[in-house]
Amino acid sequence: MTSAPISSPAPLHADLLAQWMLREDVIFLNHGSFGAVPRTVLAEQDRWRHRLEAEPIELLGRRQPELIAAAKEPLGQFLHMRPQDFGLVTNATEGINAVLQSLRFSPGDELLTTNHVYNAVRQSMRHIATRQGASYREIPVATPVENGQRIARTIIDGLSDRTRLLVIDHITSPTALVFPVEPIAAACAARGVELLIDGAHAPGMLDLNVPATGATYYAGNLHKWACAPKGCAFLWVAPHRQADIHPCVISHNYGQGLAAEFVWQGTRDASAWLTLPAALQFMADLGWERIRYHNHALTVWAHAMLCERFAVSPLSPIDGQLLGATATVRLPDPLTHLTDDQAKALQQSLYTDHRIEVPLFGWQGAQHLRVSCQVYNRPADYHRLADVITAVARDL
Ligand SMILES: Cc1ncc(COP(=O)(O)O)c(C=O)c1O
Repeated sequence: MTSAPISSPAPLHADLLAQWMLREDVIFLNHGSFGAVPRTVLAEQDRWRHRLEAEPIELLGRRQPELIAAAKEPLGQFLHMRPQDFGLVTNATEGINAVLQSLRFSPGDELLTTNHVYNAVRQSMRHIATRQGASYREIPVATPVENGQRIARTIIDGLSDRTRLLVIDHITSPTALVFPVEPIAAACAARGVELLIDGAHAPGMLDLNVPATGATYYAGNLHKWACAPKGCAFLWVAPHRQADIHPCVISHNYGQGLAAEFVWQGTRDASAWLTLPAALQFMADLGWERIRYHNHALTVWAHAMLCERFAVSPLSPIDGQLLGATATVRLPDPLTHLTDDQAKALQQSLYTDHRIEVPLFGWQGAQHLRVSCQVYNRPADYHRLADVITAVARDL
């Protein structure tokens, strides 16, 4: 990720918010949680739903493999994946669970991750470790972090002789850091440790070549930063491990290879997957490079501005070298000392009373907020957030 000067970028177009389904009276700073879908993409999904209901047997019964193959093609090109090496799933959680449920662990094996892990993934790993008599451990990666090398060194030094599987986030959820996955993957390969990358936020946010990460397994969402409809994600598996990996739902195509098994996981609404080409095209028409430049530059600027307005230290370098299109910032005193319940109430009040949607997180005993920066956001959105938060902090 190249660093950008700390000034806000020019918008790509004047009125992009109107092209999304989002309410115009809400300042939406949480693209990261569930994404947000453009109007034309939702209209395309509606068309698919109508087509599927008009010809259910023809489209789902006979042509689903062909339709899914067509939907996978532009995704494969976008992320440099061969069609036989990945399957579509509903969300990153499902992709990660497919891997965890497929693997066999022995007593003494260790499932390893970091303390930045997404909580749902933590629970999945704990569940599998408990059921199979293996152990679960988190490597503490302390913040503030100086640079990517420090993160990689901490994680590599945290591997043990018992580690069978390492799970790392490509972009962490609570701390919004881009982890340096390639050196970590190289160290895992050298030690015979399998690496599962949780890339929930990466497709569309980063210029991503999935196989080149060096991961054994890579799960990514398309309903976040690729702006596909909700329920659109993928799981990529390195060729040498594909025979052992199966979808969470085993169905007719069991044993027919990774791509075939993921095509049919029981009757389900395939419209989000079938709309994927339209979503990728919508974003490509805006220009992926321009989108990424804009979103990163806005993030670097908003991160620095919020740290200054809140008078707090950043979790990562202020030049933005560890940021993508999201940034986590500590809340100013006294808000940073709120309990989790009080922070939850504040988040609701930001939405209800101030029409600002932004997530608050507890991290290492202090309350933080995380801003997302998508092409429909403007610098004024973050100034308004800073004004409201500083006023709330002053009046507490
Ligand atoms: C790092 C990370 N992993 C996994 C997920 C889960 O994504 P989903 O709910 O789409 O499965 C998220 C969601 O925000 C996330 O941030």
